[in-house]
Amino acid sequence: MAAIEFGRRRIFILIASIGVLILLFNVLSLTGDDVSSQVSRLHLPGRPRPPIAAPEEPSIHPSQGEEEQEEQENPPELDVDIPDSHPIYGLRLEADQRWREYESGRSLTFRQTVEKYRRSHGRHPPPGFENWYKFARKKMVFNIDDFEQIMDDLRPFWAIEPKTIRQYAAHMWENPDHGIAGIHVRDHKVVNLTNRSWRSETMQTVIEKFVEFLPDMDIAMNRLDQPRVVVPWDDMQSLLAKEYETRALPAEVMDSFTKQQDYLLNTTVQKPEDDTSERIDAEWFPRPGKQYMELASLACPPDSPARSNVSVARADAMYKHDLGGLITNFTRATDLCTVGPAIQDLHGLLYSASSIVASKKLLPVFGECKVNINSDILFPANMYYKHDDRYDYSDSEDLAWEDKSDTMIWRGVTSGGVQTTENWSTMHRQRLVQLLNGTYMSTTGKEVSVISETPQSSRAPTLNKTYENFHRFQPSLFAEQHTDVGFVEAWGCVPGDCAFYNDVFTFKPQTSLTSQFRDKYLIDVDGHSFSGRWHAFLESKSLGFKATIFREWHDSRLFAWRHFIPVDNRYDDLYSLLLYFIGYGKPGIQRTEGDDYANGDVYMASHDAEGKKIARQGREWAKKVLRREDIEVYMFRLLLEYGRIIDDNRDRIGYSEDGSKLDKFEDEAEEGSGSRWGLGKIFGTKPPKAA
Ligand SMILES: *[C@@H]1O[C@H](CO)[C@@H](O)[C@H](O)[C@H]1NC(C)=O
Ligand SMILES: *[C@@H]1O[C@H](CO)[C@@H](O)[C@H](O)[C@H]1NC(C)=O
Ligand SMILES: *[C@@H]1O[C@H](CO)[C@@H](O)[C@H](O)[C@H]1NC(C)=O
Ligand SMILES: *[C@@H]1O[C@H](CO)[C@@H](O)[C@H](O)[C@H]1NC(C)=O
Ligand SMILES: *[C@@H]1O[C@H](CO)[C@@H](O)[C@H](O)[C@H]1NC(C)=O
Ligand SMILES: *[C@@H]1O[C@H](CO)[C@@H](O)[C@H](O)[C@H]1NC(C)=O
Ligand SMILES: *[C@@H]1O[C@H](CO)[C@@H](O)[C@H](O)[C@H]1NC(C)=O
Ligand SMILES: *[C@@H]1O[C@H](CO)[C@@H](O)[C@H](O)[C@H]1NC(C)=O
Repeated sequence: MAAIEFGRRRIFILIASIGVLILLFNVLSLTGDDVSSQVSRLHLPGRPRPPIAAPEEPSIHPSQGEEEQEEQENPPELDVDIPDSHPIYGLRLEADQRWREYESGRSLTFRQTVEKYRRSHGRHPPPGFENWYKFARKKMVFNIDDFEQIMDDLRPFWAIEPKTIRQYAAHMWENPDHGIAGIHVRDHKVVNLTNRSWRSETMQTVIEKFVEFLPDMDIAMNRLDQPRVVVPWDDMQSLLAKEYETRALPAEVMDSFTKQQDYLLNTTVQKPEDDTSERIDAEWFPRPGKQYMELASLACPPDSPARSNVSVARADAMYKHDLGGLITNFTRATDLCTVGPAIQDLHGLLYSASSIVASKKLLPVFGECKVNINSDILFPANMYYKHDDRYDYSDSEDLAWEDKSDTMIWRGVTSGGVQTTENWSTMHRQRLVQLLNGTYMSTTGKEVSVISETPQSSRAPTLNKTYENFHRFQPSLFAEQHTDVGFVEAWGCVPGDCAFYNDVFTFKPQTSLTSQFRDKYLIDVDGHSFSGRWHAFLESKSLGFKATIFREWHDSRLFAWRHFIPVDNRYDDLYSLLLYFIGYGKPGIQRTEGDDYANGDVYMASHDAEGKKIARQGREWAKKVLRREDIEVYMFRLLLEYGRIIDDNRDRIGYSEDGSKLDKFEDEAEEGSGSRWGLGKIFGTKPPKAA
């Protein structure tokens, strides 16, 4: 009797649970992803509690109609947040957590922004800050505080006389061997581009959006692909110490720049030789064909792997996971002081750069990219601003995730460094193209390491999953089915005909950027310098993978594992990553006698929905923080800070008020749009008006 009653109760509970489940599914299919990921974090009895039960991202900007629509076409992604001992699960949680802190720590008002500025930098904001703030808010900047890159780049210049900086900037363009262009602002106009190129013309277009707020200045812009300034570690430490000493917050300062300063370029002269003003030697030295790490390590901390005898294994442990060598800290993975010794013969810039012209002096050189040891002043690459079909995102062939192929694509030319018969094969692009070439991997019998579910775990699906490294994976069949990589053209060889590639590579036809979005997985690697496709890759519905040694203006805005997949410059993690998203093999329990596996028990479940989710997060994010407007806001702020650094009165100018003057400006914005600069919705200052 008791047994039967128990049975009935069980049936009742079962029916009730099914009811609840159906209800849940209905809710999910109506509201899309936001709810689904919260639901999957509900604590179900008998399941381990997920480590971090934070809310999923709220929608930030009102204009998300398109994304919501995209989402509703597809069923909710239920599998995404199920706790798992695979390292990617933990890495994604950490990234989400850091991203949430980034988002919730933002200043919401001018008062907060100003206060935070003073707290972080020990100085008043520069003159014109109020105008910059208004400009940035009107352009709907996402994080008004995140301009740390600018502050870091300019910090050491506080230790140098303003007129010395001006003198350098005025004249560095004059020697054609030095690879510098000049942009010259006078009387609120860009009056001269010296040694102009499309790059300085693009910069001029950006500057003209806010030039009315800028003081007279000369800007020296790098014309070479490679970064320029390498200040030795000890010199840099004393520059930074001096900067620290000069920090001060005087009660009242002038909110305007100094006029009529000397040591700017005399723009009325016709020829540089007619200009008799005093120059300082920038001490440029060319450095062809030498190991870059010999120079770079001068700028590294003495205890870093680049300057001490830390083994590669110990250095790896600082930013790679034991399983699969997955990147646990992308900042470190791109830090030459840490990774330099391991990759110095594996990246073209590091052992075969085409044109290094460097200086050990702190020079005000604006550059589109640098490696972490450089002191170039970063600005958003001109290619990201200019409209160019080769690099601009277009959706014409960007399919929905489900319609894309389960393939990783890469196309490019053989750039990266000077290539010779002896040393092309260890360059970063060439290694990638061979590693993902199934024919090459099979004819050479090369094996790679991958993460696999342990055989015990894949045979008993009720256990928690466990994973291990499998070091003898033969990738050729998988590569044939899931990769499409190749060069479209060879150049940069010595001798110039690149004949040594004839038996090695098959050149593929040119593929437009947008047609690459027919594939789910895009990998982006460096060329001679940074890769200009990255913004478009992020904007696409495909999932971007990134290996690089370069730093760019946007780095602090992009979160590895949330917006893109980080890849080691050696690519030793690449097959683990591909197997994870695409899936490989069958779990032990489903195998039958006849199944034949070249790779033994290797099994990895597909995480397609996770790939889709990260791709979507990257896309939505790129549309918020990598827009042309964001580039304008960044440049405006950069040039205000630069304008102050070169001002003889830099310790006595700035914005010393409390910021309350803009309360009204912000209230008006709130009334106008229903949310303050697109922020109100999250912080609930006022409910958004119905669309
Ligand atoms: C400007 O750059 C070109 C190379 O693009 C060089 O030939 C020319 O001499 C440079 N002019 C000056 C004044 O440096
Ligand atoms: C600039 O150059 C012009 C022509 O060479 C000269 O007349 C003028 O005095 C110079 N201006 C300054 C401020 O040196
Ligand atoms: C700046 O532009 C003016 C007007 O186009 C020109 O006369 C002058 O030579 C230029 N100055 C320099 C340094 O190129
Ligand atoms: C280098 O290694 C040796 C022996 O392993 C050790 O004694 C020494 O302290 C190390 N030097 C540095 C700079 O780490
Ligand atoms: C990554 O390493 C850097 C040091 O290079 C450190 O400052 C940073 O906090 C680390 N980031 C994470 C997410 O651990
Ligand atoms: C590339 O190989 C050539 C020939 O062995 C060698 O002379 C050259 O130094 C190498 N380049 C670099 C930068 O290592
Ligand atoms: C599964 O993992 C959780 C936490 O990670 C642990 O508490 C539980 O005991 C594990 N279950 C089994 C069957 O190993
Ligand atoms: C792939 O490798 C094979 C064998 O090395 C080679 O013949 C072929 O050209 C390579 N394919 C591409 C696209 O480079």
